[in-house]
Amino acid sequence: MKTTKASIYDFPKYYDLVFGSDTTAEMNFLKGCFKKYVKGRVKRLFEPACGTGRLLYRLGKEGYDVGGIDLNDKAVDFCNARLKRLKLKGRVQVGDMSDFEVEKPFDVGFNTINSFRHLLSEDAAKGHLVSMANAIRTGGIYVLGFHLTPTHGEADDEEAWSAKRGQTTINTQMWPVSKDAKKRLECFGIRFDIYTPTETLKINDVLRLRSYTLKQFQSLKKSVADLWEPVDYFDFGYEIDKPNLINGATQDVITVFKRL
Ligand SMILES: C[S@@+](CC[C@H](N)C(=O)[O-])C[C@H]1O[C@@H](n2cnc3c(N)ncnc32)[C@H](O)[C@@H]1O
Repeated sequence: MKTTKASIYDFPKYYDLVFGSDTTAEMNFLKGCFKKYVKGRVKRLFEPACGTGRLLYRLGKEGYDVGGIDLNDKAVDFCNARLKRLKLKGRVQVGDMSDFEVEKPFDVGFNTINSFRHLLSEDAAKGHLVSMANAIRTGGIYVLGFHLTPTHGEADDEEAWSAKRGQTTINTQMWPVSKDAKKRLECFGIRFDIYTPTETLKINDVLRLRSYTLKQFQSLKKSVADLWEPVDYFDFGYEIDKPNLINGATQDVITVFKRL
């Protein structure tokens, strides 16, 4: 099998299959949030770090106007090609989510599955929340989902799963490589084993993610408390009727922030 050391984000077709094969729970949860937390009409949706737009195009098909940014131009091209193919109006752009502007405010922002942790410094994380505040209208929300580092209990961070579409199957593994609590940097190995009728390929990558204990997350939230009020927390079970309390054992948290 051919092995490539590369960014998984440079292979949007494969990324989209690995992370986009089952989006029903996420989609229903997001729509539940629109209904439960947003004052006024929800029409315009924005996703920072949108990647291939696996959620955006589905929401676009349901009639929402969609927009987004991502650092990776291949993902952005893939996303825009799909939006165009489906005759959806929205387009996404190449941009850095730590510092960006939009032309016209959106009603809702969302950013799930840990993308936020790609921002490796406090300045970048805060810059992101400030940029998002400028991108979302008053009374709108930002749904932000990522893993916390539990301060008690064991982190459960090895994963393996398989995804299939047509004649393509991808087996994915993800495992911790190193963790530096002081620098707040966690590295994870990730491997896609790809099987198609014409190609078998192995892509190896290392994801560098910033870590957040509950206390570190609380300190970040406090620094933007004049812009964003956290109204509820959920876990990655995506059950809109089951908000949670977060504590030192919490591993995954989806925060619903309301734009003040
Ligand atoms: C785990 S993927 C998530 C993609 C998409 N949100 C989804 O749910 O499928 C993380 C994405 O973050 C993007 N990314 C990383 N750093 C970024 C930054 N500073 N600004 C914008 N996008 C970034 C990557 O290019 C990648 O597409």
